[in-house]
Amino acid sequence: MRAVVVYESMFGDTRQVAEAIADGLGLNFEVATVPVDRVATDQLRGIDLLVVGGPTHVRGMSRPKTREGAVDQAAQPYSGISLEPGAAGPGLREWFSTLTDAPPHAAAFDTRVQLSPLVTGRAAPKIARVLQRNGCHLIAEPESFLVTSKQPALVAGERERARAWGESLAVTGAHACARSGA
Ligand SMILES: Cc1cc2nc3c(=O)[nH]c(=O)nc-3n(C[C@H](O)[C@H](O)[C@H](O)COP(=O)(O)O)c2cc1C
Repeated sequence: MRAVVVYESMFGDTRQVAEAIADGLGLNFEVATVPVDRVATDQLRGIDLLVVGGPTHVRGMSRPKTREGAVDQAAQPYSGISLEPGAAGPGLREWFSTLTDAPPHAAAFDTRVQLSPLVTGRAAPKIARVLQRNGCHLIAEPESFLVTSKQPALVAGERERARAWGESLAVTGAHACARSGA
């Protein structure tokens, strides 16, 4: 069984979460982890599971303007932030508008600040809705992984939690594939 983890990341936190999820998925799946600006046109063809995640920007998925905001933030003197290659975009929102060949099973995650989701909003449910609209069956509830509010950095223990979530997707995903005869 094959899975692809597609992620968007400005500052590297969502990339680290994506890599940890992919590690966990490795329990049952052959996994490729791909930044959203590098997904090849035929990369999703024939795969069994697609996992998609990105940072929460202004309570949802990033837009060109919010990515500019992130680039500006990194450019501040002494910000200590290094941008990921491809941080300027395109992001998940733009990629979704070109999505074809969506696989049968999918799951969504985001990174967001460690405060109540009522305050922060969450990108993951929005990502999940787009996946469903593309015909994917969601094998898990949308999940959030937390960053600190000062300088973006994963909260302690989140990488491990992401790996465990990946393992749980590996188990649920294998059952879902078996049921659908994939
Ligand atoms: C322009 C901008 C808007 C943001 N808006 C939100 C928000 O509404 N809610 C939230 O929890 N975090 C928000 N954040 C913080 C991001 O969620 C955080 O930078 C991201 O999770 C870090 O992931 P990355 O390192 O992969 O970019 C925002 C960040 C930026 C740059």
